[in-house]
Amino acid sequence: MNFVNEDIVTLNRVTITNLLQEIGTGEVSDEIVAGLQADQKIISSKFFYNREGSLLFEEITRLEEYYPTRTEKGILRQMAPALMKQYKGYEIIELGPGDHSKISILLNAAAGLNLSSMKYLPLDISQPALRSSAEQLVSTFPNLHVEGYAVDFLSQFGSVQREQAAIICFFGSTIGNFEWGSSLELLLNISKKMKKGDVLLLGMDMVKPEPVLQAAYNDAGGVTEAFNKNILNSVNDLIQSDFNTEDFDHLAYFNKERFRIEMHLVARRDLEVHSEHFSKDILFKKGETIHTENSHKYSSRHIHEIVDLTGLQLNQTHTDELGWFAVTEFQKL
Ligand code: AVI
Repeated sequence: MNFVNEDIVTLNRVTITNLLQEIGTGEVSDEIVAGLQADQKIISSKFFYNREGSLLFEEITRLEEYYPTRTEKGILRQMAPALMKQYKGYEIIELGPGDHSKISILLNAAAGLNLSSMKYLPLDISQPALRSSAEQLVSTFPNLHVEGYAVDFLSQFGSVQREQAAIICFFGSTIGNFEWGSSLELLLNISKKMKKGDVLLLGMDMVKPEPVLQAAYNDAGGVTEAFNKNILNSVNDLIQSDFNTEDFDHLAYFNKERFRIEMHLVARRDLEVHSEHFSKDILFKKGETIHTENSHKYSSRHIHEIVDLTGLQLNQTHTDELGWFAVTEFQKL
């Protein structure tokens, strides 16, 4: 028998606690409007992930050109048996899990160690996503207990109650979508909340030959283009604006000075966009862009800066043969 209310969902071997603070719709529209009124127009990449955007992102992760997901999974498959043996009995916390394919690699390795029970704590903004993942995981792993938290892990990581030593996983190079300063702030915050012995596994997309990066964000099938343009549909729903995706072109390029792929939408003609939330119409000149995403690419210098700032010990950098992606293993001393 399942018990469901707004704050907690309890199923067999699953609890999901909702710690999300109400985010006013006013705050969302204010943020979008301010971004569109800035000199360099900007829409935060967090608005990519409406229903359609989440499906398009899943499709991106399966593209031939988009190397990060399969490369990271390959690294995890290599490292998981030794890692899970070394940290036997640790609970596993995952920030922003998305689908559960990466964590399943670690859980599979742990399942081979004959533990009486395993504990997995996913932290995600979406309670329905947590629930459906948890249901599938407990049906695959008979001794797994899932304690999920619907939280904004950027601000609420510390509100998750736990006792045991933990491996904290932050995969997918999601960290790369933050400005370098904000990502350091987030990692510092995480490191402060880690207990002695806790491990942090951080997925980082590394700098690599530019054509590989260009192709990953300009796939031949146009899935990334559709993903980028869909942010306008997402914004239309949030602020009742009248963006037309056909008025914009997809642009993604590597900014060498800032070690990042930048995604933009480029106006194909002079145009104006309306919404009751604007004090006056938003005007675009042909060629003007909306900056929609940064995706930072890292090198060992960045890894060492993380160590210097957080005081975490760098145990190991697990990479693929080409060094295209890294899963860095930090530990709190
Ligand atoms: C979620 N994030 C790590 C992806 C990235 O590569 O920065 C989002 C993405 N944007 C375009 N393609 C994929």
